[in-house]
Amino acid sequence: QYVVDILTVVNGVPQQWRVDTRTTLLEALRDTAGLTGTKRGCDQGACGACTVHVDGNRVLSCLMLAAQADGRTVTTVEGLAGELGLHPLQEAFLRHDAFQCGFCTPGQLMSAACLLREPGRTRSDADIREYMSGNLCRCGAYDNIVAAIRDVAA
Ligand code: FES
Ligand code: FES
Repeated sequence: QYVVDILTVVNGVPQQWRVDTRTTLLEALRDTAGLTGTKRGCDQGACGACTVHVDGNRVLSCLMLAAQADGRTVTTVEGLAGELGLHPLQEAFLRHDAFQCGFCTPGQLMSAACLLREPGRTRSDADIREYMSGNLCRCGAYDNIVAAIRDVAA
């Protein structure tokens, strides 16, 4: 068993973790940092429930080792809202009823937040669906998710 000490900034807060080299970023976020907003769905890169941002890019945290986050900046759904309130995407998801059970929602929000930083990618609903295609929703809330994203992108 190999253990490493890493320093990462999570939602603006420096964190020092001692983790097994086999620990995924998803496990470290949930089990070490206690940030359970990031969900474990498939645990093999197929559902998008574990989506977070690393240095501003979306990442499937079940496919990244915690050790790879050393010296990097991680944002989870807990860090999406600002001091003044919910992120506009969170407001839009509420307005458009863009979830049912909510399990996929953190990953949907984190992917959508990256999408908004690529304005050329939100020209049509088809563009939004294509970008969001890695985020599965077992409840089938896709139409309302797209509507919520379109609302904020407009
Ligand atoms: Fe990571 Fe499904 S839990 S993609
Ligand atoms: Fe239930 Fe998407 S709201 S899985």
